[in-house]
Amino acid sequence: MHASSAPVQTIRIDLGDRSYPILIGSGLLSDAQSWAGLPRAATAVVVSNVTVAPLYMGIVCKALGAHYGRVLEVVLPDGEAHKDWHSLNTVFDHLLDQACDRRTVLFALGGGVIGDLTGFAAACYMRGVPFVQVPTTLLAQVDSSVGGKTAINHPLGKNMIGAFYQPQRVLCDLDVLATLPDREYSAGLAEVIKYGPIADEAFLSWIESSLDALLARDVVALTHAVRRSCEIKAWVVGQDERESGLRAILNFGHTFGHAIEAGLGYGEWLHGEAVGCGMVMAAELSHRLGLMPSSFVPRLRSLIERAGLPVTAPDLGVDRYLELMRVDKKAEDGAIRFVVIEALGRAGMRAADDDLVSEVIQAHVG
Ligand code: NAD
Ligand code: GLY
Repeated sequence: MHASSAPVQTIRIDLGDRSYPILIGSGLLSDAQSWAGLPRAATAVVVSNVTVAPLYMGIVCKALGAHYGRVLEVVLPDGEAHKDWHSLNTVFDHLLDQACDRRTVLFALGGGVIGDLTGFAAACYMRGVPFVQVPTTLLAQVDSSVGGKTAINHPLGKNMIGAFYQPQRVLCDLDVLATLPDREYSAGLAEVIKYGPIADEAFLSWIESSLDALLARDVVALTHAVRRSCEIKAWVVGQDERESGLRAILNFGHTFGHAIEAGLGYGEWLHGEAVGCGMVMAAELSHRLGLMPSSFVPRLRSLIERAGLPVTAPDLGVDRYLELMRVDKKAEDGAIRFVVIEALGRAGMRAADDDLVSEVIQAHVG
């Protein structure tokens, strides 16, 4: 039995011999059951950062102590700026210094930064050791911990050095979201909202009617939001693990969003904030391409605004937006390709000419 009275929800990511479960519930971190059945090893290494470790490292190490002879901690500095070679090497230094062998299991305890970096460290160390995602932000629970994209940043580009490498398990303990700052929580809501237009019209309506409960971090609403988001992500990743097609729909709003993040300088707007505003712009583009009625734009804009996210894009200049979007990973031969909504609950990819994209940008900058 899990410690919590609410039943633990389990979703399976179906990827043949790389399949794994996502566990969602309250009280998971302290429950020995959450950690049972993982690969056997002498050593567990928990990677976290200076913000999350004081909150949750103790509870995780205590629970892991029931399963592993040795539990080591690596605590990195906090922030996107530290998702780099230096932090990655810090992890490798600890692993080698402590003579960790190829059976060692890594645990990523933190948000998307720690999850992406630890996953990449696991993919590389001794050509691959098992790892477990323990996401502690809403964004990481509904998106980054699921699906096996791991990476660090390069000074010339975000997430440019990485690997597809699936975890053994994802443990989403909803209780940890209680300590998440409001701004980070809203950024996570952007990724929750994303799943409605791209894959599930009913989920979009549910988010609209449940937003107050979600903002109050009501555990019942949160359980549904995290569960449905992970189900949709599992469905997409199960069909297109390495993003040869369908998986790109998860980037709805991200082409405009990346331009905002890069144009302002990373860290000025949070990723989820830029994605939220980017989704409004992508909704506008979907309308101007004749795919969606004009009413879709204010509907999505209003939801994103209610979630506490910015909906007016920064005025970087149209040319700068176009320049930044041309280096997006989805661009092909210089043509910018966008995830668009074709019908509520269904997304696709379209190239759009510069004039049309310029009109969209002009309609949404403040
Ligand atoms: P983050 O990891 O920087 O976490 C945000 C902040 O919240 C940090 O300061 C962190 O220390 C703090 N924090 C984390 N959990 C907390 C808690 N429970 N209580 C209090 N504070 C807490 O940011 P993020 O939004 O989780 O992730 C963003 C990263 O995820 C980016 O690097 C992005 O590239 C990556 N990402 C990856 C994927 C993927 O598929 N792999 C998808 C989306 C985003
Ligand atoms: N966050 C986008 C993806 O996992 O593909």
